[in-house]
Amino acid sequence: MERGSFGSKVGIVLATAGSAVGLGNVWRFPYMTGENGGAAFILIYIGCILILGLPGMVSEFIIGRHAQANAARAYDKLSGGRPWKLVGYLGILTATIILGFYAVVAGWCLQYLYASVVGQLSGDAEYVKNYFVSFSSDALKPVLWGVGFVLLTHLVVVRGVRSGIEKASKLLMPILFILLVIIVIASCMLPGAIEGVRFLLMPDFSKVSSKMLLEALGQAFFSLSLGTAVLCTYASYFTKETNLLNSAGQIVVLDTAIAILAGLMIFPAAASVGVSPDSGPSLIFITLPNVFQQAFASFPFAGYFIGVMFYALLVFAALTSTISMHEIGTAFFTEEFNISRPKAACIITVVASVICVFCALSVGAYKELQLMGHPLMGFCDQLTANVMLPLGGMLTCLFVGWYVPKQVVRSEFTNNEQVSGRFFSIFLFAVRYVCPICIMLIFLHQLGVV
Ligand code: TRP
Repeated sequence: MERGSFGSKVGIVLATAGSAVGLGNVWRFPYMTGENGGAAFILIYIGCILILGLPGMVSEFIIGRHAQANAARAYDKLSGGRPWKLVGYLGILTATIILGFYAVVAGWCLQYLYASVVGQLSGDAEYVKNYFVSFSSDALKPVLWGVGFVLLTHLVVVRGVRSGIEKASKLLMPILFILLVIIVIASCMLPGAIEGVRFLLMPDFSKVSSKMLLEALGQAFFSLSLGTAVLCTYASYFTKETNLLNSAGQIVVLDTAIAILAGLMIFPAAASVGVSPDSGPSLIFITLPNVFQQAFASFPFAGYFIGVMFYALLVFAALTSTISMHEIGTAFFTEEFNISRPKAACIITVVASVICVFCALSVGAYKELQLMGHPLMGFCDQLTANVMLPLGGMLTCLFVGWYVPKQVVRSEFTNNEQVSGRFFSIFLFAVRYVCPICIMLIFLHQLGVV
């Protein structure tokens, strides 16, 4: 079967950035930062991105582009039959679980898009807060929106790589960026916003803990879509000319910039309307409607328009991410079981929808749906981000560092000596020693061993 490939250079970076940029940046990053005390968390997060995320991303690119196959087969192909295939399976499992709970939040965004179009979100800060609580604890609505989102993803994935994934990303990513900048400015001009800016920029290192290290690491991997071989699958659609290190660098910078912009959008506004930064997953939903109303109080139409545009773009950003989580399983089932793309996509859609239903209920109508003291949704979130992703990332680094023949790694890194290999030895050192050891230490520290 002919494998799809991305059409243009810009398309490659944008589609991969489309996978990276999503609710992880706009929803998860602010709420994690809020729960972990602000600026110090951000510094540690940036450290994790640069030291562990960048080499991890290049590693996945190397495996994917060299093997030109789905996640499981790619690891298999490069290892000559050792059980590294399991890392690919782990990635597919992780991505599908993430798809399940991610769709819940994406469904919330759909509901907010609808509510902002029909003007249901206008009222004071108390009203906005209650709106979220009453909507999310409805037994039906969050479930329907969430499953609806999985189906939407399904539709795009079935259309294939070039026509679906690439086109959507190319158009929408730049618009999202511009809109974010506008909202950041509006938010920072609210009365009392300065407190929120301070929260983001003045680190208080007395709050650093092992839990915070692990959460920064998990957030870094989550935000970069790392550790599930999603990037490996995308890299299998790269061309021979794609410069892997440059592309990874661009994506990392863009992804981090958008996360920080999202922080600058949320915290000043939260400070202004008296929403506590550690409100958890509801943070952006109980803060943003206030910005659209209050910052644009003298231009209500602009506030309305920007609000609607924002939720629409958030939905698209989420969609370019869910597409990537869906694609990894779909590519796997299509190629390994020789079934049609639509059939393979159905398998993933059904599994993810089931997870989505239970997760949505666990934070809404059926709070008894708990695992180890967390609502099922929080459990899936923490299990994947704080354990499965770093584990997948660590194994991938070890694989590229120690098992894939060095000349294969080098020739992918340098496009067969067509581009500079100046950073190759640093890269190799990072994937052989720095990444595995750091991730291991963070794990052990969290378990209380060191
Ligand atoms: N990175 C995306 C975000 O920030 C989420 C995401 C997409 C993801 N694909 C992934 C996370 C694969 C982990 C693994 O919203």
